[in-house]
Amino acid sequence: MELKQSEIEFLAHEVQEIIQDHVRTINQEPIVGPELNRAKLRELLREPLPRHPQGVEAGLADFRKKILPQCVKVGHPRWLAWIRTSPLVVAAYADALAAILNQSVTAWEGAPAAAETELVVIDWIKDASCYARSAGGILTSGGSAANSVCLHAALAAADPEFREHGLAGKAPFAVYMTSETHYALRKAVTLMGIGARNIRYVAMDCELRMSPSALEAAIILDRDAGIRPLAAVFTLGSVNTGACDQFRPLVEVAQRHGVWSHIDGAYGGFTGLVPEKRSLIDGIDQADSLALDPHKMFIPFEAGCALVREPQHLFNAFSVHADYLPNSVQGDDAPFHFRDYGPQLARSFRALKIYLCFKVYGVDAIADALAKNYHLSAELGELVEADGDFELLAKPTLGITAFRYAPGRRDRGPADDAALDDLNTQLAIEVQHRGRVFLASTRVHNRVALRTCFVSFRTEVKDLKILMEEVRTVAKALSAH
Ligand SMILES: Cc1ncc(COP(=O)(O)O)c(C=O)c1O
Repeated sequence: MELKQSEIEFLAHEVQEIIQDHVRTINQEPIVGPELNRAKLRELLREPLPRHPQGVEAGLADFRKKILPQCVKVGHPRWLAWIRTSPLVVAAYADALAAILNQSVTAWEGAPAAAETELVVIDWIKDASCYARSAGGILTSGGSAANSVCLHAALAAADPEFREHGLAGKAPFAVYMTSETHYALRKAVTLMGIGARNIRYVAMDCELRMSPSALEAAIILDRDAGIRPLAAVFTLGSVNTGACDQFRPLVEVAQRHGVWSHIDGAYGGFTGLVPEKRSLIDGIDQADSLALDPHKMFIPFEAGCALVREPQHLFNAFSVHADYLPNSVQGDDAPFHFRDYGPQLARSFRALKIYLCFKVYGVDAIADALAKNYHLSAELGELVEADGDFELLAKPTLGITAFRYAPGRRDRGPADDAALDDLNTQLAIEVQHRGRVFLASTRVHNRVALRTCFVSFRTEVKDLKILMEEVRTVAKALSAH
């Protein structure tokens, strides 16, 4: 199975060339590959189990021919759909190093340097997010997993017997969020066996932020009905519009009622790096837990992070003894086993890419890129508002702008909304297919919106003009049919 040195050299050279070409041509269109048809892609890629060696050259040639051209260009400056960031090139090489070292960051003895690196990175993430210094945490596959880990810690804190006895026969738990909360939280609640019907969707203000008084009323109502209020989930950067809940008053309500306060910062968890936005994170350090996604901030997939103010709750939620693994002993100088702090046993060395990127680029440069994205989002909001063909559907808070194409909107009435919903749904699909701009659609205030997420370090003001031009051109073509 060992490759010859010459083959390794060839492999390294090819991969190096692919990465360099990718970065060199990342600004070129189209953003999508030529084949967006599922059946055709399957036909292109399906082949029988390769039992006999085809060799490095043939393997890579197939990758170059069949897979590479079909990949969407997530690092393109006008990749604006969903929250997929432009990855830093250093992280690509870090991932290769992590793979060849193959450290499973689970029991300390098996990967001591990787475990200590992950602990360092977690400390850095605490600093970068302005979260509590006392917190402990773990890197996860992403925000969904990080949110789930944090809610498990909440469960372990609220009901220490849960792991042994389950939830049957006990008063149900309730979890509080809003209709803008990411669906990952709903998944987490159902995975824990709490049941989606025990989610309470708390009222919001007109800026899509949870109302502290409505939260308090919902908690009291449940408690009076014999239901156990478990956790209140607040959002730092909602997926739809980037809206940010106001943490201080919300956390105070939760604390007053002994309810776990959790912040989903998967998108906006690093907002504290941008001085002009710092007021948005007021009270963040008081929350019981915080979920973040470095993979939404220039680090490639997968990299999430769960932080819990009192790390003991994480340990209580996940630690299990097994004879075939080193004992779990807690203490500053005791071996630190990440398997005790999350659901996975085998875990990759994902800290390395964050470690190297933070060191190589410096976190200030990353913060500047974040700030630039927030400016771009605000600027698009202004352009949209100044243009009679468009309508802004939510004021940008961070780097997401939700708007719609609505020509002559000032003369329109609500009766036109259904037609505009259809038009904007079609627009998003058609714009994606053309490959100049890649944006997505969603619903905001119950209307279909075009949603652009500024999460690249390559996007410039000129891209905003191209984006609006493209939407207008496609809309006119659609209306002509
Ligand atoms: C606010 C928010 N929470 C949670 C998630 C889920 O994160 P992930 O996709 O990393 O699992 C996302 C993803 O976009 C998000 O924006």
